[in-house]
Amino acid sequence: MGFFEKVGDRVVGAPSILAADFAYLAEEVRRAQNGGAELVHFDVMDNHYVPNLTVGPAVAAALVRATSLPVDAHLQVERPDSLIPAFVEAGVVSICVQPEVTIHLHRTLNAIRATGLEAGAALNPSTPPEILEWALPHLDYVNVMSVNPGFGGQEFIPEMADKVRRLREMTDLPIQVDGGITERTAPLMVEAGARVLVAGSAVYRGDPATEMRKVIEAGRRAAEQQYG
Ligand code: DX5
Ligand code: ZN
Repeated sequence: MGFFEKVGDRVVGAPSILAADFAYLAEEVRRAQNGGAELVHFDVMDNHYVPNLTVGPAVAAALVRATSLPVDAHLQVERPDSLIPAFVEAGVVSICVQPEVTIHLHRTLNAIRATGLEAGAALNPSTPPEILEWALPHLDYVNVMSVNPGFGGQEFIPEMADKVRRLREMTDLPIQVDGGITERTAPLMVEAGARVLVAGSAVYRGDPATEMRKVIEAGRRAAEQQYG
């Protein structure tokens, strides 16, 4: 069973390695794992779709070998299709693409799923959730970006909690939130229906185990208060 299929109603934390020290990637992931992280969020950027450039399949493969956590690839790239086979080969468990630049989204999602991986779509802050209406049966998760893609450490966009709520009305798929997630903003997103909390700068600004735990626990408290 895939990671997202198993999440159910649990709140889980995923460190975004964009904010980690890339020279010590495996160790940085272990530090967040000690704070309860269950998934690694791996941001891939191409200097075309976003003005930043990060890491690709070779680094993903090395990290997969060095960590016991599943690795989720967030492709912030133009033409993601040509990169899918290399990320599958690298051993990631899921791949998420940006529908804004994925010309044949249905085909891309099915290409990901055909390899046995879970498929996701990430929505930019200005992209309406309705863009995914006809893709929902082909998705395993949705990422609601709460900053504009490209960089870590940006300010959380609060209206994105309403987008999570709207998506929740459309689907039962697990909702991942990505950008500006901290112990202060995680509860807003969990109350709205998010369950997978991606956090980069909030985790790596201090001791990653302590900071990861704070984000996860803030999210779990919000879920408990909601359901009693
Ligand atoms: C932004 C990336 C995010 C980023 C989040 O394009 O998709 O995953 O690393 O970083 P923080 O948590 O610092 O906003
Ligand atoms: Zn991301």
